[in-house]
Amino acid sequence: SGSADLVIVANRLPVDRVTLPDGSQGWRPSPGGLVTAIEPILRANEGTWIGWPGGTETEDELEPFEDDGMDLVPMAMTATEVEYHYEGFSNATLWPLYHDVVAKPEFHREWWDSYKAVNQRFAEKAAEEAAEGATVWVHDYQMQLVPAMLRKLRPDLRIGFFLHIPFPPTELFQQLPWRRQILEGLLGADLVGFQLSGAAQNFVRLVRQRVGHKTHRDLVYLPDGRTVRAAAFPISIDSAGFEELARSEPVSERAVEIREALGNPRKVFLGVDRLDYTKGIYARLRAFAELIEDGELDVEDAVFVQVATPSREQVEQYRILRDDIDRLVGRINGDLGKIGQPAIAYFHSSYPREEMAALYRAADIMVVTPFRDGMNLVAKEYVACRFDNGGALVLSEFAGAAEELRQAWQINPYDINGMKAALLDAYQAEDRDLTRRMKAMRKQVMEHDVAAWADKFLEELGALQSSHSKSVRP
Ligand code: G6P
Repeated sequence: SGSADLVIVANRLPVDRVTLPDGSQGWRPSPGGLVTAIEPILRANEGTWIGWPGGTETEDELEPFEDDGMDLVPMAMTATEVEYHYEGFSNATLWPLYHDVVAKPEFHREWWDSYKAVNQRFAEKAAEEAAEGATVWVHDYQMQLVPAMLRKLRPDLRIGFFLHIPFPPTELFQQLPWRRQILEGLLGADLVGFQLSGAAQNFVRLVRQRVGHKTHRDLVYLPDGRTVRAAAFPISIDSAGFEELARSEPVSERAVEIREALGNPRKVFLGVDRLDYTKGIYARLRAFAELIEDGELDVEDAVFVQVATPSREQVEQYRILRDDIDRLVGRINGDLGKIGQPAIAYFHSSYPREEMAALYRAADIMVVTPFRDGMNLVAKEYVACRFDNGGALVLSEFAGAAEELRQAWQINPYDINGMKAALLDAYQAEDRDLTRRMKAMRKQVMEHDVAAWADKFLEELGALQSSHSKSVRP
């Protein structure tokens, strides 16, 4: 066995390997909520992170390295594995299936074989890195077979699993030809965590119905005497870190600069998402444009800033989405913009945390409209940055965050008229109303940060009866 007491296994490392303009190799932060959430935890715990750096470098070209308190262990994937395991099974089968089939999932047997092979390699690496009796925490839908594979190799470990995205309702999960294998893969963990309690309940019910194990409340009893617990752990962000950044001098100045660059409109609307069809970007931009067409908003007074971070660009559905959004933004600005005053300021890029904090401070109305979302950390980042108790949050009821951020203007993204009404209401809201709502949301976000989330998960994992005593028999 290895020497790490805490090992994180995730499909992605927190950094991607990239070729810099001068031709040399460098690292850049990778996108998405998982990395945002886990990175501060691992830095604080000096753990080891096993993940893919995003390219097709071979094992020989990738060396483990240290990054500010984290040991990073890069895993190679072949071009075929990137296509089958990552783009295919993870992002064209599981991702749409787990997000209420917002897009149609594809089922291909060779994708599944590749998913299994990659999961097996990650499990083997974790078995190699983990110290005797260590804790291994496996993350997200790309790695659902790792818990059982790892337990087979290393029955001495404590194994936790957390799913960052929604777990689908039973009727949708049933479509998966490999549903039973996925459930059995997850049952390799001692503790299986979900964003919401409804998801944990779905999982336990499916295990009872499909695998036939005995269950009681949040517990599953396996024939070998092991017990698995399934529970909800709503994830969060480094709330204090975001607030501190938002308060800093450079970010404050940048926020003013952004508003000036936008022509000092009365109100700035903001959307920040990975460019993903689950996020409802198209619907929200249409709602905003219709408000201008209806004469409810004026481009002199209001602008919509949309930041769309490039994501999964080799997957067909994502390419189609990008073209659709490009065309829509072009049409809206062509029809409704004026010189120096576009209706929508659209950016297909990712920005550092400082720039994001400045944007959050510059925005009057944060618009988060996913059709389905595990949590949505952008909503929490906005709240954390509004130490002035200003700003409005328009939030889809289909985001996990809606269970905690009750004082947001909650909307159904399928209902364009309802969304328009909420945008307008937030636009016209009085300061007193804004302050009251933001104060309540800030209390929630500042008190429940990602450190508390991780502590709770690891504490409950540690409190479960040691798997060691159960599964290793004399
Ligand atoms: C979501 C998922 C993560 C994923 C991230 C970025 O947050 O839950 O598992 O890493 O999106 O997606 P990508 O495909 O680029 O890793």
